[in-house]
Amino acid sequence: MISRRSFFKAAGLSAAVAASSSFPADLLAWVEPQRKQQPGGPILLNSNENAYGPFPSVAALSNPFQDANRYPDSEVERLRARIAKLHNVTPDHIVLGCGSTEILKICASAFTGPNRKLIMALPTFEAIDGYGKAAGAEVVKVELVSDTWAHHTAAMQSEAQKNGGLIYICNPNNPTGSLTPRRTLENLVRELPEGVYVLMDEAYHDFVPVAADYISFADHPVNLDRVIVARTFSKIYGLAGLRMGYAVTSPTTAKLIARHKQEDSANIFALRCALASLDDDDERQIAMLRNANDRETFMHEAAKRKLRPIPSWTNFVMINTYRPVKTVIEHFKHNNILIGRPFPPMDTYARISLGTPEQMKQFWAVWDKLPALKE
Ligand SMILES: Cc1ncc(COP(=O)(O)O)c(C=O)c1O
Repeated sequence: MISRRSFFKAAGLSAAVAASSSFPADLLAWVEPQRKQQPGGPILLNSNENAYGPFPSVAALSNPFQDANRYPDSEVERLRARIAKLHNVTPDHIVLGCGSTEILKICASAFTGPNRKLIMALPTFEAIDGYGKAAGAEVVKVELVSDTWAHHTAAMQSEAQKNGGLIYICNPNNPTGSLTPRRTLENLVRELPEGVYVLMDEAYHDFVPVAADYISFADHPVNLDRVIVARTFSKIYGLAGLRMGYAVTSPTTAKLIARHKQEDSANIFALRCALASLDDDDERQIAMLRNANDRETFMHEAAKRKLRPIPSWTNFVMINTYRPVKTVIEHFKHNNILIGRPFPPMDTYARISLGTPEQMKQFWAVWDKLPALKE
């Protein structure tokens, strides 16, 4: 992708001309596609972001450029220590990533390859698929259990018996929002074939209520070196644009995966915002309750329309539209709302990220304009 600056240079245009209102908007969008919520721009319900933004205490941090001229080593150590404290371990259990995506990437790079399969669910968060393939691995996809939308761990384990490298578990799962019970995952870990690693992606951990059949493997680890947990600051903390995530694992495995990561992939601003976010537990609680409330309201609106979404433990909901989902996506796009991409084989399901109450009001108004289903 060509950058805005090199594009203007190549085109012989100055930045002043580019900023002027006469510059064609569609050309600008091509140079740098718009992701920010703009007044009048599309409502973004398509990437499971936090619609409310970073915590107010983080947004109010003074002097964002402090130490921008320095390499971030000491801040990296501060954040590793702070995260270690959160999970009751020592800092050598923690590896920071440029988003949790970097953790997925380095795990694929460390544990998969030409003779080490990557085993993942279908559908699930797809990013690791490409990283496994780039490492030369065969990627095996195992469909979720049809009635509970949990991972089919027995089938995954059986796939891992021969040339298994890494099993990727997304819990709660994206795009279904569903949980795989802790006991099922403990069984998987207990019976793990030798040399196979498990990556538990807990990106949506903070949205799961305490009562659900869910216990984090970061907060309550099992006694096995070959389990890695990925977490992110992109969801509950509202910092998706800053790219900060981390892994919690044994010191041995932490050392192993850290060799595959880019040195200093965490920038000073993201590090400072992540530290400040972890210091604001009140706001984390508020964000969690607000999301639970938004989710309940969504379910209520769905029930009013006799719809039955998959029960969700996240900040998004998967819902059967009983139509080809591509037509539903187009309908919403036409009405200035972006919803999730198709997730085959769930070809009639739409994934809706929860927005603010006002945005969701607009979402339902557009939903109600969908052409009626044929009997
Ligand atoms: C399950 C899951 N894991 C990881 C990620 C990537 O998150 P990050 O922004 O931390 O790279 C996402 C993003 O939506 C996700 O849904």
